[in-house]
Amino acid sequence: MAPSTPREPPIDRLIDAALAATSGACMVLDEGLRVRFATASAAALLGCAVPRGVSAPALLCGDKPKRPVAEALAAGEPVHALVPRPGGDDEHLVRIRSVPLGTGKKPLGWLLTLQDAGAIGSDRTVEFHGMWTRDAGMKHVFTVVQKIARSDATVLVRGETGTGKELVAQAIHRLSDRKDGPLRVINCAALPANLLESELFGHLKGAFTGAVRDTPGHVQLADHGTLFLDEVAELPLELQAKLLRMLETRTVIPVGGRDPIAVDVRVVSATHRALRQEVEAGRFRADLMYRLRVIPVFLPPLRARPGDIEVLTQRFVDELNARGKRRVDHVAPAALAALEHHDWPGNVRELRNTLEYAFAIGEGPELVAGDLPPELVEPGLDAEPMLAAAEVRPTPASDAAPEARRISAALARTAGNRDQAAKLLGLSRVTLWRRMRQHGLV
Ligand SMILES: Nc1ncnc2c1ncn2[C@@H]1O[C@H](COP(=O)(O)OP(=O)(O)O)[C@@H](O)[C@H]1O
Ligand SMILES: [Mg+2]
Repeated sequence: MAPSTPREPPIDRLIDAALAATSGACMVLDEGLRVRFATASAAALLGCAVPRGVSAPALLCGDKPKRPVAEALAAGEPVHALVPRPGGDDEHLVRIRSVPLGTGKKPLGWLLTLQDAGAIGSDRTVEFHGMWTRDAGMKHVFTVVQKIARSDATVLVRGETGTGKELVAQAIHRLSDRKDGPLRVINCAALPANLLESELFGHLKGAFTGAVRDTPGHVQLADHGTLFLDEVAELPLELQAKLLRMLETRTVIPVGGRDPIAVDVRVVSATHRALRQEVEAGRFRADLMYRLRVIPVFLPPLRARPGDIEVLTQRFVDELNARGKRRVDHVAPAALAALEHHDWPGNVRELRNTLEYAFAIGEGPELVAGDLPPELVEPGLDAEPMLAAAEVRPTPASDAAPEARRISAALARTAGNRDQAAKLLGLSRVTLWRRMRQHGLV
């Protein structure tokens, strides 16, 4: 037996310590996506052994038929994904990011960093393509979106306004094989039927007065890409028939034309309505509903995911801090309570606008309840008063009507610039002017 001699620490242990210090749990892959090195913490996080030479896609995604992460890795694309923990049940998620190694065009290999994203049901915060959440329902949506993105299946996203339907459509597009193609967005509620038809399907020269040249519609412009039909329940019945025809034949006929034009589009649609009810009310075709809703995705309203208000508040405060106009280090408990108490009919969009308002209205490193729009904090406007009095900053005209006060504050903030004040308040210039007159502020 060889006598035990004092040895230098094995190089592996040094590398492990260095990688763990700089990147946490991670794996180094060669160009063939085989694991050349994995930190001990990576194995612990994945809950399984990570033998040298094992294929990373197989390790992370097994041989499941839909392996979006594996496919992205194999295609040499940057990965930013949540996958179920290989050594656990499907409920525990690991976050994976990939960094190409080397400076050449073709990477030498990849560094995969791994993070514990917690159980779907845990309240750990995750981010997915610009969407932040700690809500189990939202995390579930992310895993579904990842699974279905690379297929061509038609997706219907349902959720109230401001819940992130468009972000989901963007994520699907970006994760799909069509990502280098166009993503065309059309809001079916924004236009009257005749205009909408030509916007969607295009028109030929002379089809109507003003049609001076052949013009492709959104469907054609989305060729080899994704067409996002927002507020699809508002599509008039006659256009529903045309959309159905398009989905069935994969062709469009422009207004004024006769010959079908072949298109290759993936359709993602969204609505704030229950399509089934629209069908029952005779406003929506059942056959079209089934076509659109091959994969339904439901986004819960913000008030149904209360933990997210704090998460998103912090997120938006960070974003607004980065703009550099004001730095908020702390959101006062009463302000957070007021935010959590509100029922957010405009969901995440409304929360973002509210924080933008509070940023502009208030001053200093603490965001206090008095910075929030009156309807969130005025006892008269909201059911339950919840303010610590000390947190409400006195304003010069604190007995004026809340709206007048809001307008004055916005004008003070913008040094009297009405354009900017209108923007801040989410009003048109004309409306601002009219309200200023009503309140005797002119
Ligand atoms: N989970 C989220 N995390 C961060 N921002 C979000 C989230 N959900 C929505 N947003 C933001 O809220 C706004 C509204 O989102 P959007 O996708 O347009 O909603 P919808 O299409 O349902 O009306 C956008 O500014 C979007 O970036
Ligand atoms: Mg929208």
